[in-house]
Amino acid sequence: MSKAGSSTQRLDKLLANLGYGSRREINIMARNGRIRLDGEIAANIEQRVPVDEALRARLTIDGETLDPLQGLVLMLHKPVGVTCSHNEAGDLVFDLLPLRWRHRDPPISAVGRLDKDTSGLLLLTDDGAFLHTIISPKRHIPKRYLVTFERPLKGDEAEIFASGQLMLKGEDKPLLPAQLEILSDAQAAITLTEGRYHQVRRMFAAVGNHVSALHRARIGGLELPADLAPGAYRALDAGERVSLLGAPA
Ligand code: URA
Repeated sequence: MSKAGSSTQRLDKLLANLGYGSRREINIMARNGRIRLDGEIAANIEQRVPVDEALRARLTIDGETLDPLQGLVLMLHKPVGVTCSHNEAGDLVFDLLPLRWRHRDPPISAVGRLDKDTSGLLLLTDDGAFLHTIISPKRHIPKRYLVTFERPLKGDEAEIFASGQLMLKGEDKPLLPAQLEILSDAQAAITLTEGRYHQVRRMFAAVGNHVSALHRARIGGLELPADLAPGAYRALDAGERVSLLGAPA
């Protein structure tokens, strides 16, 4: 499928790729007058339309604005208890999105993962190049987490995490330096520039502690907005996309 703004596409293919149904189902929708372009019933479902943002104001399905086009980047406030996967048992982050979006092609994927028990800022996209840019280990995009821990700190944790020498169990490469900011007797903020499996929980385990709650507050320069409730999501604007890369460490 062509990227938004770059070309034209057959209307039936565009709608099929956005998950509205098979080409056949879309044909039936058109014949039933459910698809309108510029206010007129779109009888010719094979016509080519420009794939750009303006199309969203021109095309309606059952009177509703067209879904976001390909090239979508969402921020989601991941609640505790949902899994970042397309096919595991239990509640999935994708269940928080409209049902139709499950049938989009290219599919919407999570940009990296948060554990089931971790809450906070999760990015979702159908843009493979964008996904790879954000998760690329070469970029070292900082991610800030709020950590609630169970035991009193010993006092040397910040130094150990910042040392660049902490080795996690079962690994053969030390962690990159991470920054620990102590917020209270039971809470700290930690900023990582890599994303190993269960990294924060394993780091605290390595210094004899236990994480009881974990929340991702920021990726790069993008903060989870206070008004985005757990389970809610919205599309990033162009400035927010840039802020992901222009990152305060
Ligand atoms: N570190 C963890 O331990 N879990 C997460 O979900 C993210 C970072």
